[in-house]
Amino acid sequence: MSEETPPPHRRRPRYRGKNPRRFEDKYKEHAGDAETLAKVTASGKTPAGTHRSIMVAEILKVLAPKPGEIAVDCTLGYGGHARELLACLQPGGKLLGLDADPIELPKTEARLRALGYGPETFLTHRTNFAALPQALAAHGLAGADVLLADLGLSSMQIDDPTRGFSVKADGPLDMRLNPHRGEPASELLRRLNAEKLAVLLTENADEPHAATLSHALAARTYSTTMELAAAIRAALPRLKKEEADLCVRRVFQALRIVVNDEFAVLDALLRNLPACLRPGGRVAILTFHSGEDRRVKKTFEAGQRDGLYRAINDEVIRASAAERRDNPRSIPAKLRWAIRA
Ligand SMILES: C[S@@+](CC[C@H](N)C(=O)[O-])C[C@H]1O[C@@H](n2cnc3c(N)ncnc32)[C@H](O)[C@@H]1O
Repeated sequence: MSEETPPPHRRRPRYRGKNPRRFEDKYKEHAGDAETLAKVTASGKTPAGTHRSIMVAEILKVLAPKPGEIAVDCTLGYGGHARELLACLQPGGKLLGLDADPIELPKTEARLRALGYGPETFLTHRTNFAALPQALAAHGLAGADVLLADLGLSSMQIDDPTRGFSVKADGPLDMRLNPHRGEPASELLRRLNAEKLAVLLTENADEPHAATLSHALAARTYSTTMELAAAIRAALPRLKKEEADLCVRRVFQALRIVVNDEFAVLDALLRNLPACLRPGGRVAILTFHSGEDRRVKKTFEAGQRDGLYRAINDEVIRASAAERRDNPRSIPAKLRWAIRA
């Protein structure tokens, strides 16, 4: 018999109640327990540490990926869309997945490698999609037949309080897609004056209380997400809870857009697109608020007028009623597409 002492018994994380509420306590979801994932998904929620891809069938229909083609997923995220695209590109095709996030990208790469996609079919590049031409060149690719951008944040990022995007759980007021670069939201707020803050709350989130909020919040120090959320609610004491919650969401959205320079990088992507698509190449872009959608719509319309795109969508495409019901994060999504001349 072995004389070795058995490893010490490790207790499961403790939490109050029947189901864990905190992101870090949802260990069954983080571990990918199939039964738990199915249960959480069926209840209309996104399991912790995962992401439910939006409008997958609609995106595959407009992108029409074929065996042997080259695809670029500019926003790899959890890899849900990429996985579907990769299956259609075989045999002989290749997908290059870009993401700015150095925390989630390696996990997604490992998940897709585990499905059997080696470096000959699946490449990754940690970069901002504003640098799409450089990413293509780095992998010796002349252009893409199929290109997807599913803008904004993944559920892994939104739900993880340590990333500073969550309006529900406390964490550092960060909001950077790449926490190693740039300025966190806490520093941005500290250096902004009320005038500038009012402009960005209006422009980035159509915030109706921009004037009041900007005076209350500008040039102040908030280290955590919940400190900022409490200050927003305190500045608007007459609002009902639901209205105040919406304000918190809008202020967080407005700050996140500035922290990650989201409009400037989207403009750069849209400018670079025609040169990065092969003749007949298809692009699909999924947006989540009007500031994004307006940019995509205008650029595609101008590209069609200038003969860069052979066709673009007439009507914006929305998630089906069933998907909106099953996954509330699909409700604001708008899909637009274009075909390179
Ligand atoms: C909505 S998620 C994509 C989810 C993915 N389509 C899926 O099915 O799993 C958006 C992803 O894009 C990344 N992202 C957002 N803006 C980016 C940018 N400018 N450059 C590169 N990646 C970006 C985020 O880090 C996030 O991982």
